[in-house]
Amino acid sequence: MTTTITTIAEVRAAVGAARSAGRRVALVPTMGALHDGHLALVARARELADLVVVSVFVNPMQFGPNEDFGRYPRDLDADLALLEHAGADVLFAPAADELLPEGRTQVRVAAGPVGDVLEGRVRPGHFDGVLTIVLKLLHVVGPDTVVFGQKDAQQVFLVRRMVHDLDVPVVVETVDIVREEDGLARSSRNRYLDAAARRVARAVPAALDAAESFADRDVDAMVAAAQSALAGEDGADLDYLAVVDPATFRAVDDGYRGRALVLVAARVGGTRLIDNRFVHLG
Ligand code: PAF
Repeated sequence: MTTTITTIAEVRAAVGAARSAGRRVALVPTMGALHDGHLALVARARELADLVVVSVFVNPMQFGPNEDFGRYPRDLDADLALLEHAGADVLFAPAADELLPEGRTQVRVAAGPVGDVLEGRVRPGHFDGVLTIVLKLLHVVGPDTVVFGQKDAQQVFLVRRMVHDLDVPVVVETVDIVREEDGLARSSRNRYLDAAARRVARAVPAALDAAESFADRDVDAMVAAAQSALAGEDGADLDYLAVVDPATFRAVDDGYRGRALVLVAARVGGTRLIDNRFVHLG
C-alpha cells in the first residue's frame, strides 16, 4: 500500500522510523504526471531500498516566466494509482506552501558553469531552481539513495556535482531512458503533442540514431548527420545538438576519442523535447 504524506514533519517521522529500524530509504523526486520512465525509477529504488519514497512537487523555481508551470499536467490520483501498482511505500506530495511557504526560497543553490550551457542557456536559472528543490527534498526526506532518470542528463550531472561539491550524504543512482515503441523518450510533456506533432517528434531520437551511425568518424560528421535528420522533418526546430564529455559536460573537439554523450533539444509543435545517448567516438 502507498501512503500519501503531505507534511514535512510526517515524512521525516516515517523516514526516521525506518532508518532507526535499520531500513534503507530511497527517494525518487518527480513533478508527477507519472509514466513508465518514472516507474522504472521506482523499480530501481525498490531494488535498492526497503522504504521507497516518491515525491511529487511541481517546482515553480525551475520554470521560466514564459514556460509551462501553469499548465504542467497534475493528476495526483492517477499518480497514486501508478505508485500503488509499482510498490512505492510513500507518496510525498507537499502543497506549495508546505515546501515553499514564501513561494520561492531567498537562498538558492547556484549550479555553476554547467548550469549555464545547453538547457541552462535556453532556460536561464532552471538548474538553480532544480538543485535548490532537490537539496531541500534531500534535507526533508533524508534518503540513503536518490534515483534520477538519464533523460535529464544535464540535471543528473549537476545533481552529482552538487552532492560532490557540498558533501551531501546520499548516493545518486541513474536509470536509463525508457522509450516509446518508435524510440521517443518517455516524458510528461509528450502529452502536449497532438497526433501530427507526435509523428514529427520521432525525428528527435532519429537525430541521435543518425549521430551514432557516424560515431566511428568524428564529431563534426555526427553533428551534421543529426542536424540533417532533424532538418528533413517539417515542424521540428532544433534548439541545440551537442556532443560532450560525460565527465565534464564540456563540448568535445573534433579529435576526441572515447565515450561521449550526444544531447539534442528540439521544439515540436510548441513543445520542447530533449533526448540524449552515450556513444563511443573513434
Ligand atoms: O526531473 C524532475 O522531474 C525535476 O526536475 C525534479 C528533479 C523533480 C526537481 O523538481
